[in-house]
Amino acid sequence: MLDHATNRQLCETGPGTPMGELLRRYWHPVGAVSEMEKEPTRRIRIMGEDLVLYRDLSGGYGLLERHCPHRRADLGFGYVEECGLRCSYHGWYFDRTGACLEQPFEDTADPDSRFRDKIRITAYPVEAKAGLLWAYLGPEPAPLVPTWEPFTWENGFCQIVISEVPCNWFQCQENSIDPVHFEWQHDNWRVRASGAFGPYAPKHLKLGFDEFEFGISYKRVRENTDEEHPLWTVGRNCLWPNALFTGDHFEWRVPIDDGNTLSVGWFFNPVPQDMRPFRQNDIPAWRGPVRAADTGEWITSHVMNQDFAAWVGQGALADRSREHLGRSDRGVIMMRRRFLDDIEVVAAGGDPKGLVRDPLVNNCVTLPIFDREFFCNGPTREELRNPNHQRMRSMLDFVFQAGQPAAVRAAYVAAMGLDRNDDT
Ligand code: FES
Ligand SMILES: [Fe+2]
Repeated sequence: MLDHATNRQLCETGPGTPMGELLRRYWHPVGAVSEMEKEPTRRIRIMGEDLVLYRDLSGGYGLLERHCPHRRADLGFGYVEECGLRCSYHGWYFDRTGACLEQPFEDTADPDSRFRDKIRITAYPVEAKAGLLWAYLGPEPAPLVPTWEPFTWENGFCQIVISEVPCNWFQCQENSIDPVHFEWQHDNWRVRASGAFGPYAPKHLKLGFDEFEFGISYKRVRENTDEEHPLWTVGRNCLWPNALFTGDHFEWRVPIDDGNTLSVGWFFNPVPQDMRPFRQNDIPAWRGPVRAADTGEWITSHVMNQDFAAWVGQGALADRSREHLGRSDRGVIMMRRRFLDDIEVVAAGGDPKGLVRDPLVNNCVTLPIFDREFFCNGPTREELRNPNHQRMRSMLDFVFQAGQPAAVRAAYVAAMGLDRNDDT
């Protein structure tokens, strides 16, 4: 249970708030490279700030405050130029540092005044990595965009799925350190959704939470596993500050504002050994719906959609003064404490947990991954045909989110050779 003031401290991320200051020390994924190739400007809202993300004609990325400093037109309508974005209203032209390069009428009518030198617009750096576009809204010197280990893996089919979830980011992130929900919100819900009343999934018997440099690993023993099992010896990861990392995918929960969260998923499937070498030229990105188009009901057919249902069900901003934490919530408590401690560290001018500043470390930031061999080597064709192989459910179908476009599915099927029916 938390008092209202502490709850607000964890949840509110607008400029100047303690958590907002903390989260502004990290890079956040805010879009995808392949989306910007189709449409070079995109209006986004991140931590309560209205912004425009763009890709200019030279291929560089920028992130500017949404409203033009001239008379506040929406730069989302702007034209991309060689090195920046031009307001469509009167043509003022800004580069990615926020400098005003041109004011067409002022420059013509009074070229000596150099009025443009007095104008700046808020601008944030953007970097492309792993098919994602990362933004940094904090003070300099910025840390590095982490090169998480799976970003270096080869021979994989990656895809990015982005959704807007109408609730606060912190309850989404608490889900990243909540092993027991998997039994009920996923496994058993699937049983009940099929119309059956059982048998239910193996129960959780024991949980462990170990903090490491970049997060907290959560470990579990269920009725069908023991302490020799990698789910206990290695576990899965709550990745700092706002992600889940399971081995084959990341899920970031980026605050849009205090009542909405951008869910950004990055998924990796190793292609089978007989389809290698495989090189993916573009990582496809798609927007995952959260409600059914016809009924408006929450979609609950896929793993992350089930999570979304849990999060929005807690309310736009969960009232933690009315919760009753039990033994399963030990990780949630560890996470809250770490954030509250780091808020103080940041207020005192220090670096919070898990920043990467060393370029050598950033060649590949290794993470606890127990099925690394599978991801690096890929399945054999025989494994891919074995319905009892533990990873095959997520190898044959995209189980994480509803709405995968047919073109992405077709590219996946081709990459994996799922349409092959020969026995070679
Ligand atoms: S409002 Fe942008 S140039 Fe005038
Ligand atoms: Fe989940």
